[in-house]
Order: sequence, then C-alpha cells, then structure tokens
Amino acid sequence: MEIVELVRAVPIFGVLDNNEIRKIVEIGINRRFSKNGIVFLEEEEGAALFIIISGKVKVVRTDDQGREVILTILGPGDFFGEMAILDGMPRSATVVSIDKSELFMIHRREFLQLIEKTPQVAISLLRELTHRLRKSDEQIERLSLKDAVGRVANVILQLADELGKIKKDQVIIHDFPLQQDLANMAGTSRETISRTIHQFIREGHLEQHGNSIVITNFEKFKGIYS
Ligand code: CMP
Repeated sequence: MEIVELVRAVPIFGVLDNNEIRKIVEIGINRRFSKNGIVFLEEEEGAALFIIISGKVKVVRTDDQGREVILTILGPGDFFGEMAILDGMPRSATVVSIDKSELFMIHRREFLQLIEKTPQVAISLLRELTHRLRKSDEQIERLSLKDAVGRVANVILQLADELGKIKKDQVIIHDFPLQQDLANMAGTSRETISRTIHQFIREGHLEQHGNSIVITNFEKFKGIYS
C-alpha cells in the first residue's frame, strides 16, 4: 500500500482531506527495523510519534532484574509514542520490533501543530487513548481479581484482540508469544501457563498448531472468561 493510503487508514488521521494527508507524508520519515530491533527505550526523551506501516511491535516495561512484561502488541495502522510527546515526560515504556517492521515517524513539533490545527485529530486521539485506558482497566481487574486460570484466559483474549484473525467462530493467533511472555502478562509462572493451556486444549477451547493457537469458539470462550 502507498504511504498516503496507509496514513489515511490510520484512525486518528481518517478525518483529514487528501491535501492534509499529503502534507503529513511530506513531513514524516520512514524507518525500518529488523526483528528484535529497539525503536526506543523507556526513560529516553521523546522526540517523535510513530505509525506502524508494516510488522508488529511490543510495548514492554522492564524491572531492575531485567524481567519484562508486555503491555500491548501493536500492528499496522496503530500509533505509539504519543505520551512523551503530549506530556513532555520521558518515554513510559520500551518499544521493540517483533519482526521486520516499517514505521513512519512524525516529529513532535509537527504533530503538536497538527493537533492544534485540527480538532478532529485531537478528538480521535482522545478516543484511542480512552480505548487504551479501558483496556488497562481490564488488565488491572484481571491481575488483581481473577484466579490464575482466569488471568491466562484473559491474556489469550487480549492477544486475540491484538493479533487474532477471525475465521467463522474461530480466532487464530499466529506467532503466539513465548510461555515466559505469557506468564509475565498474566502475572503467573511459566508452569501455570503450560498447565492451563493444556487444560484449555483438553476442554476443546484451544487448538495448537506449531506457533499458532486457535480459539475454537471465540464467543463461547469470551463468555466464560471475560
Ligand atoms: P511513550 O510514553 O511516548 O512511549 C512508549 C509508548 O508506548 C507510549 O508513548 C504509548 O504510545 C505506548 N504505550 C504505553 N503504555 C501503553 C498501554 N498500556 N497500551 C498501549 N500503548 C501503550
């Protein structure tokens, strides 16, 4: 897809006309990252907003012992890096390219000018930030109130939302994350992840095919666990 088409497909820019989209394309820069390439680190100063053209990135926080928790996974059409731009604080998390990716970068000043000039972009941005806050609220509930099986199920539902492809009643999640990543997301151990996933497979909720996981009846699974 052409960059112009891609920028138009980004929900926060959907309201702009062709001229305005072309202007954004002119002020932005394309950058490529290899698998596991670091886009930026937590605590760095934030100079730009990024839009994903192709590939996927993970947003992670790391503690003193180097343990990592994935906050979210973002794909084509998603943006990130707006927080440090908006509040002038350091980057709130590290962003790593999961596979090869192409990103479109808009510098802070230009992005701030754009939202000052175009209230609809600001409103769309607020809508997306609100959506992210709702998801974070769900994560807090999941981590604090649910038992381990419920937490694992909810992480699977979150990944289905971020990475899944719908096929009739099923949702297929390709490149399913490593058990250690799942454990960190669910606030549990790798052994519990392994045991629970096998339980879900035995119960017919999941199927595993190589690196992919299939939720056999998404609505049913969601109905039980969310
Ligand atoms: P920034 O703080 O500039 O750099 C890290 C980026 O990760 C942040 O902006 C957001 O774009 C993104 N990010 C941080 N936390 C979350 C979250 N909980 N959900 C989705 N994206 C996030």
